[in-house]
Amino acid sequence: MNYWWVVPAAGIGQRMQADRPKQYLELAGRTLLATTLLRCHQLLPQARLVLALHPDDRWWPACRAELEQAAPELDLMTTQGGAERADSVLAALDYLQPHAAAEDWVLVHDAARPCLDAADLKRLLQQASPIGGLLACPLADTLKQATAQQTVARTLDRRHLWQALTPQMFPYQALRCALQRALAAGATLTDEASALEWSGLEPQLVIGRRDNIKITHPEDLALAEFLLAQQKD
Ligand code: C5P
Repeated sequence: MNYWWVVPAAGIGQRMQADRPKQYLELAGRTLLATTLLRCHQLLPQARLVLALHPDDRWWPACRAELEQAAPELDLMTTQGGAERADSVLAALDYLQPHAAAEDWVLVHDAARPCLDAADLKRLLQQASPIGGLLACPLADTLKQATAQQTVARTLDRRHLWQALTPQMFPYQALRCALQRALAAGATLTDEASALEWSGLEPQLVIGRRDNIKITHPEDLALAEFLLAQQKD
């Protein structure tokens, strides 16, 4: 059984308001993207890695040089991403087509999540159902649905609400078909599980740590540096 890491890194990170896409910001002496890729490689070294990059990306060569120095053995392929995250993931899966078997497992992980926990990944690998699964955590906060005037329309019942994280892990062919179908039908997808759901399937929710944060806003960088410094394995 083969495993693949698919890392969508073609976003421009608008909410970060930086001079470059957020995956190329510095985090603990490395670019965020290099930190995430090295973590993926460290935790599942037998998995080959495919990265989706923005067509106008001019920061990747420096990041690649950083990776070659830190992990010369890292087996990494790159392809061009698309307009939305789901397009980027599908582009990476299309690129993989000559290499991957239908039943191979694909682990899709955000370039912007550098703090993946070793025990979380192990749990995902053990607990994903044959359909697949994703790291997620039960909601701690109360969720409000808003009106257009930014008043509260209603309070959602949080007992059944989970926050989706990554990695999200699915068999290669099932994920590729689900993404193709959902995108062709015009579905809005913000993660991989929603493509499977769109096909009527129920991916397994696997408990993950809340500190597997996605770097989105400037203040997230300091928090991620702190979390990385605490990491034991
Ligand atoms: O923008 P957001 O934080 O949701 O992006 C999540 C991940 O998806 C990031 O790693 C980002 O680079 C990637 N992405 C992508 N292609 C896009 C948009 C986002 O690969 N068109």
